[in-house]
Amino acid sequence: MASDNVELRIEKLVAGGSGLAFREGKAVFVPLALPGERVLARLGPGKRDWAEASLVEVLEASPHRVAPPCPIYGECGGCDLQHLAYPSQVIEKTAIVAESFRRMGKIDPGEIGALPSLPFAYRNRLQLHLTPQGRLGFMKASSSSVVEAASCPVAVRSVQAWIEERAGTARAAEELGPYIVGKDRFLVFGTEDKVMLEGRDSLVRARVAGEDFTFPVKGFFQSNLYILEHFIPEVMAGLEGGLVADLYCGVGLFSRFLSRSFDRVIGVEQNPFAVEQARANLGGGKHEYHALAVEDWTATASAALGFDCVLVDPPRTGLSPVLRAWLARTLPPLIVYVSCDPVTLARDAGDLVRAGYRLDHLKVYDFYPQTHHIECHARFRRG
Ligand SMILES: C[S@@+](CC[C@H](N)C(=O)[O-])C[C@H]1O[C@@H](n2cnc3c(N)ncnc32)[C@H](O)[C@@H]1O
Repeated sequence: MASDNVELRIEKLVAGGSGLAFREGKAVFVPLALPGERVLARLGPGKRDWAEASLVEVLEASPHRVAPPCPIYGECGGCDLQHLAYPSQVIEKTAIVAESFRRMGKIDPGEIGALPSLPFAYRNRLQLHLTPQGRLGFMKASSSSVVEAASCPVAVRSVQAWIEERAGTARAAEELGPYIVGKDRFLVFGTEDKVMLEGRDSLVRARVAGEDFTFPVKGFFQSNLYILEHFIPEVMAGLEGGLVADLYCGVGLFSRFLSRSFDRVIGVEQNPFAVEQARANLGGGKHEYHALAVEDWTATASAALGFDCVLVDPPRTGLSPVLRAWLARTLPPLIVYVSCDPVTLARDAGDLVRAGYRLDHLKVYDFYPQTHHIECHARFRRG
């Protein structure tokens, strides 16, 4: 046994998907290890009170450990939870959210709901890469090189078939060459029957909860249309009133549904191309969009109008100090928070609760099965 190999007992999974163990008072993070497991791990870099380690051998396996179905699992940087049975993934993610609220937010999250997705064949939007030989693949974990892929079990069937038809050949590179000059990666969006490619196609059309949306293949759109179908009605339930803000609105996904039950929607998004598309998705009316960073928008006259509801869907960094200060100043009666990072959500939730809000709903939506990524919907009410 190499001298830097150590035996560890994994206590739980943490945000980011690693197993957490303690050794000589130090936290040790072990990717691919599961709660309850006894493992042999090789200690890697770290700091005084924590270290990273790589899994060498599972000495006592969790009863929830399963054989990952993907042949390049462990090498591909896309998935990092395929070794955990799907129902346990949802349970662990919910536990991570609860722990984040207690540790980071310093608040009790109360009861947390959870909605699983299809465990495989769910992902509409992916980034594909080309190997130096022009074959399809994905970026390797913690590396800048590409691992060749013959398929992808988390991709929707249309994308799986598209990859499989080109596996082991340079066909994709030949087809895409004229469109992605000088690039070795491209975005793909697959619907039930169509595959749209960055460069070759410009706009995707997709139907969500009874509404048609158009968005650039290259831009942001939710990646799991299956769960979105359930998510949208749940997020929108009970929302109504006069004026609503949709902050970080992208191409206006939420704005479109908010416009059904609010008199006026104000959307804010820093990407001007997304705003252009948001305007097209919402159509006319008295709604308005601002192609601004939300921080700059808070200093404009429209931010002082007095909102019945503010919906926020920030990137992983969560709400910036400027936006949190604006919320604490304007105190909208209802804040709907859609989050892709439980740690920053917990931080912001703690601030909102200490500013006088009550957390009245918190639910995990598993938009990204087989990966550590966690999406949540939280609702905060004043008083
Ligand atoms: C998680 S996406 C949400 C998009 C949209 N709500 C949706 O569901 O399709 C976050 C969006 O915030 C935008 N964004 C990031 N930082 C921003 C900022 N400081 N101000 C305004 N928009 C920002 C990004 O361009 C991206 O479109």
